[in-house]
Amino acid sequence: MKILIVYYSMYGHVHRLAEAVAEGAKEVEGAEVEMYRVPETLSEDILGKMGALEAQKAFAHVPVSTVDKLAEADAIIFGTPTRYGNMCGQMRQFLDATTRLWTEGALIDKVGSVFTSSATQHGGQESTILSFHTTLLHLGMIIVGLPYSFQGQMRIDEITGGSPYGASTIAGGQGERMAGENELAAARFQGKRVAMIASKLAK
Ligand SMILES: Cc1cc2nc3c(=O)[nH]c(=O)nc-3n(C[C@H](O)[C@H](O)[C@H](O)COP(=O)(O)O)c2cc1C
Repeated sequence: MKILIVYYSMYGHVHRLAEAVAEGAKEVEGAEVEMYRVPETLSEDILGKMGALEAQKAFAHVPVSTVDKLAEADAIIFGTPTRYGNMCGQMRQFLDATTRLWTEGALIDKVGSVFTSSATQHGGQESTILSFHTTLLHLGMIIVGLPYSFQGQMRIDEITGGSPYGASTIAGGQGERMAGENELAAARFQGKRVAMIASKLAK
């Protein structure tokens, strides 16, 4: 059973969640978990101006996915930063290259799930995940979120991401905040749940 975690991260926040999602998925027996980035679409010059080059060194070792890779998976967990309440352009471009997979129905009945990061608490995490789901439904995927059995999403004693739609983190306006333990726990829960459901479907 192959679980892919396919993400884009500019400053490392989504990458940190992706690692936690992978940890959770690996807890399920028989899960073979692979992490991939989607291709960059911005030039080094622009990335430099956006202050992303130094941060990106930390996950430069993660291989870049091709769209064909998606067809090998039993489940795909996508991670994207929020951009104006939507997925980032790098992820959109990657998904827009899946036409052949759509034509062949290659992703039908695979499990799909989404997690995100935004600068602000109410900056569009839910709209990012829910609008991402639309694409996954067109591709025929079975969507898995983060149910309230992950009780950490009920917390109001600290600032935290996480909703029934998926794990998330709040990065801060300057990217100064990294995922806290509750957000990482949500990501691990989501990874494990996707792997458990994929395992049941595989049987
Ligand atoms: C073009 C652009 C648009 C963004 N739009 C939003 C937004 O709508 N809401 C928000 O809270 N943060 C927004 N952000 C902040 C990103 O979500 C934040 O940088 C990201 O979550 C950090 O994750 P990363 O380090 O994995 O890239 C935006 C950032 C950029 C560059």
